[in-house]
Amino acid sequence: MTKTWWKDSVVYQIYPRSFCDSNGDGVGDLRGIISKLDYLKGLGVDVVWLSPVYRSPNDDNGYDISDYRAIMDEFGTFADWEEMLAGMHQRGIKLVMDLVVNHTSDEHPWFVEARKSKDNPYRDFYVWRSGRDGHEPNNWASHFGGSAWQYDPATDEYYLHLFSKKQPDLNWENPMVRAEVFELMRWWLDRGIDGFRMDVINMISKTPGLPDVPAASDDRYRYAGQYFTHGPRLLEFLREMKQQVLSRYDILTVGETPLTTPEQAAEITNEATGMLSMVFQFEHMSLDADISPASASGVSAWRLSDLKRVMTRWQKGLEGRGWNSLYLSNHDQPRPVSRFGDDGCYRVESAKMLGTFLHMQQGTPYIYQGEELGMTNVAFASIADYRDIATLNMYREAVEERGIDPQLALKVVHARSRDNARTPMQWDASAEAGFTFGTPWIKVNPNYPTINVQQALADPNSVYHYYRKLIRLRKENSVIVHGAYDLILDDHPEIYAFTRTLGDDRLLVVLNFSGATPRFDLPGYVSFSGHELLIGNYEVNPAEDIHHLTLRPYEARVYRLMQ
Ligand code: NOJ
Repeated sequence: MTKTWWKDSVVYQIYPRSFCDSNGDGVGDLRGIISKLDYLKGLGVDVVWLSPVYRSPNDDNGYDISDYRAIMDEFGTFADWEEMLAGMHQRGIKLVMDLVVNHTSDEHPWFVEARKSKDNPYRDFYVWRSGRDGHEPNNWASHFGGSAWQYDPATDEYYLHLFSKKQPDLNWENPMVRAEVFELMRWWLDRGIDGFRMDVINMISKTPGLPDVPAASDDRYRYAGQYFTHGPRLLEFLREMKQQVLSRYDILTVGETPLTTPEQAAEITNEATGMLSMVFQFEHMSLDADISPASASGVSAWRLSDLKRVMTRWQKGLEGRGWNSLYLSNHDQPRPVSRFGDDGCYRVESAKMLGTFLHMQQGTPYIYQGEELGMTNVAFASIADYRDIATLNMYREAVEERGIDPQLALKVVHARSRDNARTPMQWDASAEAGFTFGTPWIKVNPNYPTINVQQALADPNSVYHYYRKLIRLRKENSVIVHGAYDLILDDHPEIYAFTRTLGDDRLLVVLNFSGATPRFDLPGYVSFSGHELLIGNYEVNPAEDIHHLTLRPYEARVYRLMQ
């Protein structure tokens, strides 16, 4: 495989609303980001992925776009955006923008036109159907609860929205839609950006006929992923996008692709014949989901054996065939230290262990803002403190329609809410964590006096300094980027261990995913003549015999094995 800059890069995701507020309106903004560029440079990241900053009524915090070529008023001006981009480029940091084109806002001029009449030129930009016996055209559920269809009285038809009713799905079957999207992509690329993260890009082709999800005869709406992910024309649309846009620029493209398999991902990310640099897969994000209809909470315990199986399948599945993205968190997911680690007494150790896990696999790592501090989930006492549309809808549906006890519903919110990731970035111990001098749009996590950037910079043992080292190691050791991954100790219930091999260069990664002190026995077939510790989250005796170790809680070690 050829080497490309996006393979060697580490990406940092900014959720602008929660990153840094420069003007005291309580909402993060572009000038706030500009003020923190040296912080990003200090961390050593190569690329910023910026969640949407376009004009939006903010039904879904910017993932509902009403003007693709304008900056959201609360975030600043186009001149601010240009200054931000220049500031990044001056520091050697590239910028990847979010591309949200499965749907627009219902306030986008295309939709405003489309809903006016059945013969409006923009009507066919969206997916319209007549009702069935006075009901929705099919039984598809929206990701945010309820039906995926909204009735529009003006023309007596329903429109499709896989997300909120203010996010109508674009009709990609219409070549004019594709032409508009490709044009707006070129518009941003010509302004100097370095790539796109493509929101739910594998949902743009729907199964013709939009069939019902087979279900026992009840009137519940059903998740219809099999009819809208990886649909029949997806690859054709992506190839057209590649031909019309992507192939003309040297850029990073990452597709958000729920339900995608390694085989599909390999096809999409193959360097010669694929269309995108990499995709975000979701299998490891579903390991703690309980999808059984009887489940009240939707949450279950996850098992290390499942994590090993899933990650190994992706590592081996794309090796030499495509390219992985590596992530444990983003703006839609709970904080990894609360989910896969221990956000209590081993917060620092487990955050570092998870960081090691992430950065030592083959692929391009993505760090979500605050992950480098070991920021944790939040547990607001009242649903009134939550802001996320998905959280609020799910809570209402659970309590009002399914009769679930409000206290239990709130516990689920604590574990799963997307707002866990969206509390403001914790910069220092001053009021509102230094995020704003006004009132933040969502409350700060009360642990900010101890978990914050100022503390992390001053403490040589912080998660931040450990992440810096992980990022630096990747630059110094191409085995971390390109080496083959091989799982060892497949069945160990607490230890996740693997090797990475590139020519004669070989690393051993040992991770204790528990708060206990399990014994590690290196399998005999992993032979070596000497070893050197590259990174670890505890003090280690260099002379220790690494064939047999007793690991400390959430211990992580990476060794170079000499042949
Ligand atoms: C995925 C985004 O990450 C999420 O935040 C958003 O709500 C949906 N797509 C809809 O755009």
